[in-house]
Amino acid sequence: MRAVDIIVKKRDKQELSREEIDFLISEFTADRIPDYQMSAWAMAVLLNGMTDRETTDLTMAMADSGDRLDLTRIVPGSVDKHSSGGVGDKTTLVVEPIVSAAGLPVAKMSGRGLGHSGGTLDKLESIPGIRTNLSEDEFIAQLREHGIALIGQTADMAPADGKLYALRDVTGTVPAIPLIASSIMSKKIASGASAVVLDVKVGVGSFTQDLESGRHLARLMVAIAKLSGRKATALLSDMNQPLGEAVGNAIEVKEAISTLQGEGPTDFRDHCLTVAAHMLMLGSAVPTFNDGLALAARSLDDGSAWQRFRVLVAAQGGHLATVDDPSLLPSAPHIETVHAPRSGYLSQIHARRIGEAVVRLGGGREVKGQQIDHSVGVEILRLVGDQVTENDPLFVIHAATRGELERAKTDVLGAHHWSDEPVEPLPLFYDTIYTE
Ligand code: URA
Repeated sequence: MRAVDIIVKKRDKQELSREEIDFLISEFTADRIPDYQMSAWAMAVLLNGMTDRETTDLTMAMADSGDRLDLTRIVPGSVDKHSSGGVGDKTTLVVEPIVSAAGLPVAKMSGRGLGHSGGTLDKLESIPGIRTNLSEDEFIAQLREHGIALIGQTADMAPADGKLYALRDVTGTVPAIPLIASSIMSKKIASGASAVVLDVKVGVGSFTQDLESGRHLARLMVAIAKLSGRKATALLSDMNQPLGEAVGNAIEVKEAISTLQGEGPTDFRDHCLTVAAHMLMLGSAVPTFNDGLALAARSLDDGSAWQRFRVLVAAQGGHLATVDDPSLLPSAPHIETVHAPRSGYLSQIHARRIGEAVVRLGGGREVKGQQIDHSVGVEILRLVGDQVTENDPLFVIHAATRGELERAKTDVLGAHHWSDEPVEPLPLFYDTIYTE
């Protein structure tokens, strides 16, 4: 078999066999297919799609590119969550500790920034000293000792996703449902949790822009979870405007910390409580969704979730002093508040444009392997539907240079749209899909 023939077949809109998919993934993982061929193949998939059968085979090939952990004997009843990618989505940093505070093991394999969307690993690495590249043995040992771990793809677990993810990030090949589903579900299968909540984002700031494609992605991932013997719930959540205020690595960690301490923006807190409640239900920690909501809120308000976050940070080598005093986290030299240029109702705060502005500030990558600047970002102070008076604070830019700050001001101002008439606020969630 030759990689070029598989690329040509997908370019010509034909269905790949399981053998061809297995060959492509195993040879790429072994560094015998170069990045340029894999990128060309990813673009062919983006343009021509895959059948659900191909996507399932791709997921299994990627999950089997390394070891598949079975956590049922190591930490029984572990639960996991994964987002399909959004702007300001620091949910994992809050939800993992909430669920851990309720006594359920949480074992999560996350990703880095992808296109305009941020990644949990990049955010977490704003904390000096923290390690996300734990080996499989370290991951298991940490789960046994602390019941909570948050790692990236490794040479042992989901290596194919680690390599393909870095290419997709910088080749315009992220928003392909087969590539998203296989990326997410291969990590979930490899890292071994028995139940998973899938947070599928819908809207201009996500990779599934409308409800129909969000539902397709959600159903496909829930079906793959079932096939691999896992329970799954998929939530369809809004990603037209950023989630919470902070967009950028260190400032998102700061917002997660304040949410864990019982504060934080209301939309973000409510989003986290809902995701956590579903995880608590899937993990059988509570009988009903409302019990899950109440338990999750209690763990934020009584400080137990915050203490679990500190345990996670310390276990992975992070300097606790910097989370106990977030002013010690990376901070940009140029910070400026921008005020509303007019009065009116906010009709749109375009999440993708804001994510792109943060990438341009240096918070994401434009080429593979690029160092990112953890300190930069944007705080969006208002929500769609808010009535704003001219000169009210609208957003805050954190930039490395004056020039970049000025450019980001224009970009972010252009992402705000206005109406003279009242505008309905956006919902947080659209739908929930359960395993059949
Ligand atoms: N998260 C992932 O892990 N992969 C994707 O493709 C999108 C979001």
